Amino acid sequence: MLQRVLEPETLDHLAPDDPVAQRSRRDLRRVNAFMGARGILERALSKALGATAETVGGTGRRLRIIELGCGDGKLMLDVARHRGARWPEVELDLLDRQPIVEPATIAAYAAAGWQARPRIADVLDWAAESDPAEHWDIVVANLFLHHFDADGLRRLLAGCARRADALAACEPRRSRFALGAAHLIFFLGANAVTRRDGVLSVRAGFFGRELSDAWQAGPPPGDAAPAEAPSAWRLDEYDDGLFTHCFCATLVGGRDR
Ligand SMILES: C[S@@+](CC[C@H](N)C(=O)[O-])C[C@H]1O[C@@H](n2cnc3c(N)ncnc32)[C@H](O)[C@@H]1O
Repeated sequence: MLQRVLEPETLDHLAPDDPVAQRSRRDLRRVNAFMGARGILERALSKALGATAETVGGTGRRLRIIELGCGDGKLMLDVARHRGARWPEVELDLLDRQPIVEPATIAAYAAAGWQARPRIADVLDWAAESDPAEHWDIVVANLFLHHFDADGLRRLLAGCARRADALAACEPRRSRFALGAAHLIFFLGANAVTRRDGVLSVRAGFFGRELSDAWQAGPPPGDAAPAEAPSAWRLDEYDDGLFTHCFCATLVGGRDR
């Protein structure tokens, strides 16, 4: 198996209004479409949420979702358009370090019936916060967790366990096949940034039970631990499609809040 190698991705270091970055984000939409990301993410959401979406709907409150590293926010918009009729009452926070969710995207969410708002923050700051008034039914991440080294990942996952009742993450699969395919994304018309980042993403991606192990390891020493024991969570880690590795965590039996 390929060794996990983490190198900074170019897009993370380009200004949001840099035309090269804008082009690369458009490329990413094509890459997501090619990988079948919407369907994969919806399946992971269903798995991690179980009956929660329907149960919450019956209580009159909105289902609270936060997407970490949301980019331009357009992938979840596809989910909203596809799921809107079944999940009409969703409150969605779109967190990214860069201010790249456009007002038109927020308006498109509203048209699909979802109340979305951008949140500009570093995810590790979010993970360290502990505001009991802010709690989510589920955290969603697509092509995001692989940006972090072992300690950062443990810190991020522990933040998810403290701040939400479920997690659905879809990440690059670290396999020779996916690596070979990443070298071919110029066929999708991707620019040099997307082509380089695509290869780096696969090298930094996940395999087997790596995300479950990071979850169960808890936060690095010295960090606040989640209140619930690791055994209170149902974990599911699996491959979906040709290039994606998914991780779902669900708190079994809810928590006292
Ligand atoms: C590969 S893109 C994925 C975007 C989107 N999820 C998608 O599938 O199209 C990763 C995103 O994570 C954001 N990001 C990277 N490091 C971050 C951090 N520490 N905190 C918050 N966002 C971060 C980047 O700005 C970028 O938009």
